[in-house]
Amino acid sequence: SDHETIIVERDGRVGVITLNRPKALNALNTTVMTEVVGAATEFDKDPGIGAIVITGSERAFAAGADIKEMSSKTYSDVISEQFFGAWDDLSRLRTPVVAAVTGYALGGGCELAMICDILIAGDNAVFGQPEINLGVIPGIGGSQRLTRAVGKAKAMDMILTGRNMKVDEADKLGLVSRVVPAEDCLTTAKEVAATIASKSFIAASLAKDAVNRAFESALAEGIRAERALFYSTFATDDQTEGMAAFVEKRDPTFTHS
Ligand code: HXC
Repeated sequence: SDHETIIVERDGRVGVITLNRPKALNALNTTVMTEVVGAATEFDKDPGIGAIVITGSERAFAAGADIKEMSSKTYSDVISEQFFGAWDDLSRLRTPVVAAVTGYALGGGCELAMICDILIAGDNAVFGQPEINLGVIPGIGGSQRLTRAVGKAKAMDMILTGRNMKVDEADKLGLVSRVVPAEDCLTTAKEVAATIASKSFIAASLAKDAVNRAFESALAEGIRAERALFYSTFATDDQTEGMAAFVEKRDPTFTHS
C-alpha cells in the first residue's frame, strides 16, 4: 500500500486498517491520523464496504499520541493547526467501526478505541489515560467518552491518577464489548464486522446514528431522533426485503438501498 504508518486491506465487505509503527508502539503522530482518517473516509464512501476494523499489534493497539512529536509544540502551534482535530472526522463516519484492541491502549490509543462503535478486547489489553503524567490532559475526547462509558467515579480515578486498567476491570465497567483470547482478537473483530456488513447498510448506519444520539443528547431528544430514523427505514428497499423474507421464511438479500 502507499501508506507510511498503516496497512489497509479489504476482506469481503470489511475494510481493515492496521496501525503499523511497531518500533513506537503505534504512537499516533500526525501522519497516522491523516492516514487512518483518510483510509476510513475512503472506505466510508465505498459501497462495497459495510464495516471497518481498526487494529494495532499484539503488544500495542496504540501507546498514545506521539510524545516525541508533541514535546516541542507551543500553545500557538496546537491551536493554529487545531492539533489532532481531524480525529473528530472518524466519529462522523456512517460505516460501523470495530476496534480490535490487544496490548496497550493508552492516552490517544484509548481515545481512538473509544471513538470506534464496538470494542473487541484481547485478554492482554491495557487501557489508560496517562496524560496527567506528562502535564497535559486527554485531547481526543477521552474525558468525555470515558466518563459517558464508565461514569464519573472511574473516569476521575483514571484521568487524575493516570493509572492503567486491565481488561477485567474494563470489561466489568462496560468499556469493552467483548473480551477474547488475544490471539483471537482480530479474527473475532473481523467476524463481528462481517456480520454487521451482511445487514442492510442503511439500517446499520441509522442504528449507529441512533445509539450515538444517546451519547450526544438528552433522552427526550434522542427518543425523538430514533423515532424519525426508524420511520425513515420504511423508505428503503431493505425494509421491504427484510420483512418479506421473514414472512416467506427465507434469508433476506439486502441491496443496501
Ligand atoms: C512516542 C512512544 C510512545 C508514545 C512508546 N513509545 N509510547 N513514543 N510516543 N506515546 C516508544 C518508546 O519511546 C520506545 O521507543 C518504544 O516506543 C518502546 O517503548 P518502551 O517504553 O521502551 O516500552 P515498555 O517499556 O514496554 O513500555 C510500554 C509503555 C511505555 C508502558 C506503553 O512506552 C509508555 O508509558 N508510553 C507512553 C504512554 C503515554 O504516556 N501515552 C499517552 C501519551 S499523551 P525507543 O525509541 O526509546 O525504543 C496522549 C495525548 C492525547 O496520548 C491527546 C492529544 C491531543
